[in-house]
Amino acid sequence: MTDKSTLTLGDMNVELPVRKGTIGPDVIDIGALYKHTGAFTYDPGFTSTASCESKITYIDGDEGVLMHRGYPIEQLAEKGDFLETCYLLLYGELPTAAQKKDFDTRVLRHNMVHEQMTKFFNGFRRDAHPMAVMVGTVGAMAAFYHDSTDIADPHQRMVASIRLIAKMPTIAAMTYKYHVGQPFVYPKNDLDYAANFLRMCFAVPCEEYVVNPVLARAMDRIFILHADHEQNASTSTVRLAGSSGANPFACIAAGIACLWGPAHGGANEACLNMLEEIGTVDRIPEYLAKAKDKNDPFRLMGFGHRVYKNYDPRAKIMQKTMYEVLEATGHSDDPLMQVALELEKHALSDPYFIEKKLYPNVDFYSGITLRALGFPTTMFTVLFALARTVGWISQWKEMIEDPAQRIGRPRQLYTGAAKRDYVDIAKR
Ligand code: ACO
Repeated sequence: MTDKSTLTLGDMNVELPVRKGTIGPDVIDIGALYKHTGAFTYDPGFTSTASCESKITYIDGDEGVLMHRGYPIEQLAEKGDFLETCYLLLYGELPTAAQKKDFDTRVLRHNMVHEQMTKFFNGFRRDAHPMAVMVGTVGAMAAFYHDSTDIADPHQRMVASIRLIAKMPTIAAMTYKYHVGQPFVYPKNDLDYAANFLRMCFAVPCEEYVVNPVLARAMDRIFILHADHEQNASTSTVRLAGSSGANPFACIAAGIACLWGPAHGGANEACLNMLEEIGTVDRIPEYLAKAKDKNDPFRLMGFGHRVYKNYDPRAKIMQKTMYEVLEATGHSDDPLMQVALELEKHALSDPYFIEKKLYPNVDFYSGITLRALGFPTTMFTVLFALARTVGWISQWKEMIEDPAQRIGRPRQLYTGAAKRDYVDIAKR
């Protein structure tokens, strides 16, 4: 493609600039299209539309590549820890040893939440879905941390970012404790991020809780795998909410609300439910047939992705993490793992899935892993939200700091009634 493209509309020829990224597809800049032609573009679902310019995350869906700031996800998950990935996403570079130590301290020493927030939790019904509680409590943070809501102040933006990364595990663990009817467990500063989270979830006052380092490392890796994924639905929601100047806590609450949907973050919960419903290997053909039947709404959960038309690189790392967790918890013979492995094998050799390029996504093996870690399915999307918070807030910060930033205001193709006169109620 050249540096310019020409669009012909009726007898008009309009030249549109073509922008090149570092890697990835070129982008036709249609910003001036309406001014020159009076026409909009139409792309529901954004399948061909770049909604922003970003330097944070790159995905090559055909090749199954995911990189943060240029670093492949496999290397980050293998060699680093979650807080290092957080630093990378927020600041753009891997930290030096001194920067890492300082960042870890800033996050790990700001993990307590305002004590008044415990009362907020107590207002929810015990049987509320944990994601409903997350939307409410994270949105409520703006009411507790007034000194980090001025988005025009770079210092406050960073304070809000660190606060969100630091306090999200505490809020997620409190959500879990409230859900299961146990007392809240306060964070402990001598534990690392993932170990602290596991302790806040699973410790009880009546006995000592010793964090298993294999499980803490697995939890940390699961957080890395979910940290960011460029302009997905929830990230785009955060950016759109933030484009109006809304405070960061409200924007993250909007992201959590979007993530909850079964086509997005809710898929890992739906996937485990599906594996349980299938139950045994002999029922796999029946469920594959359902997934292929156009008259049946059933879809193979944890399969398919808008961007990946190849194996989701996160699914491979998640599968390895699953083996480690099952072994460490004495569940190496988990029957659901057998169902999942067989299901994957069947689907990957089925012409329907081959033709449509449907491969396992990150959610396919995460449910089995999270269940073995001790979490109920209702908490799965909460864990995703916890990990994705750094991606959301990094993307939000990038947007606010972009000089080209304007309020996000899509247009539409109107197909409703044309102008008509009001009819008096007696004459209708
Ligand atoms: N099972 C069966 N068929 C599927 C599946 C599936 N999981 N996914 C897609 N298809 C089929 C569709 O029916 C469609 O067929 P058609 O062309 O004959 O109409 C074709 O593949 C393309 O699917 P679309 O829905 O158009 O693709 P889209 O990009 O809009 O959807 C999505 C992607 C939502 C992820 C989809 O693959 C899906 O519903 N998967 C199951 C849910 C899931 O695992 N979500 C997690 C996503 S990853 C994440 O959020 C972390």
